[in-house]
Amino acid sequence: MNILGISGSLRSSSTNTNLLRAIAKLAAADVNFTLYDGLDKLPYFSPELDFEGAEAPPAVAHLRAQLDAADAIIVSTPEYAFGAPGVLKNALDWIVSSANFTDKPTAVISASPMHSGGDKANASITQTLRVMQATIPENIRLMIGSVKIKINAAGEITDPALENELKNLLQTLRDLHIKA
Ligand SMILES: Cc1cc2nc3c(=O)[nH]c(=O)nc-3n(C[C@H](O)[C@H](O)[C@H](O)COP(=O)(O)O)c2cc1C
Repeated sequence: MNILGISGSLRSSSTNTNLLRAIAKLAAADVNFTLYDGLDKLPYFSPELDFEGAEAPPAVAHLRAQLDAADAIIVSTPEYAFGAPGVLKNALDWIVSSANFTDKPTAVISASPMHSGGDKANASITQTLRVMQATIPENIRLMIGSVKIKINAAGEITDPALENELKNLLQTLRDLHIKA
């Protein structure tokens, strides 16, 4: 099973990216987990660059190919100023016309040091992905508050309840993939 992880943070010590790395370690041996690393290489989206018959910019073609190769996707995002990071929304805007999220089992995680767990960014990204026909049942939307006490600087999960939630999320993605 191929899972693509997309972090909405460009920070080198991002908790969201570390969470995705931790999920990769929790996954079963038959899971091939790829962490997408091209968010900052995508051009700014403009419909003028994305018309029918146009050749996609290489970074966009790369993202679309990685999405196509994935059986399931996990997005993990911070929240900035009560919204989703612009870099992540920019990436999703490139996928509207190419529809690579259609029917893909997709988990949406938001992690924040605040109690709210980035719930507004999570709601916004979920709405955008659902418009693009991603399959997102409510039980694989995780809002992780107080994240800095649940994962340490080495990227290890220190909260057993969170570890359990992430294992359940992986199981749900697998079940959805088998059903598809
Ligand atoms: C400019 C800025 C705005 C932020 N706004 C929010 C916010 O609205 N809600 C929130 O939960 N956290 C907010 N934060 C805190 C981020 O959630 C926190 O920095 C988080 O660790 C970033 O995720 P990362 O560790 O994956 O990079 C903000 C941080 C910055 C720098």
